[in-house]
Amino acid sequence: MALSRIIEEALNRHINEEFYSSYLYLSMSAYCESLDLPGFAHWLRVQSQEEYAHAMNLYDFVHAREGRVTLHPINQPTLEFQSVLDVMQSTLAHEREVSQLINRLYELAIQQGDYPTQVHLQVFITEQVEEEKAAGDIVAKLKMIGDSSSDLLLLDRELSNRGVAAGMPPPSAGPFPG
Ligand SMILES: [Fe+2]
Ligand SMILES: [Fe+2]
Repeated sequence: MALSRIIEEALNRHINEEFYSSYLYLSMSAYCESLDLPGFAHWLRVQSQEEYAHAMNLYDFVHAREGRVTLHPINQPTLEFQSVLDVMQSTLAHEREVSQLINRLYELAIQQGDYPTQVHLQVFITEQVEEEKAAGDIVAKLKMIGDSSSDLLLLDRELSNRGVAAGMPPPSAGPFPG
């Protein structure tokens, strides 16, 4: 079943949102570099790469459904933040917004009777729960840390351990090998 114009357009808009997320987290990573917090910078850089992977996952999905990908301009991300707590609170707020967008996309796929898009988006819905939790956990730790710089450095070291390319399975990998 090829994509309807409505779903194709909505997926293209969401591809742009994921690229924007990637750009936003890269901007936050650069800010953390400027604070000499390499662990936070690393965590956000991996986050940026994951968002890029989300965009490309949908990019491949549109093509697999015989749709046409159209790339829109990516907005300039936020450049300045008040603190690393501000960065992580903004991350959490942004993830909550993205969850809403994905939920609306899912509702649209239901309205349009587009079952493949519904199934495909389920991975994204699950992923959003994890992403909100990950950001929320760091916000909670930062609030406990308060203004203790030695504890902040410990958390920074912990975040430097985040592995690359966790999360979503590669777009072409189905549940059945071969
Ligand atoms: Fe994402
Ligand atoms: Fe995300």
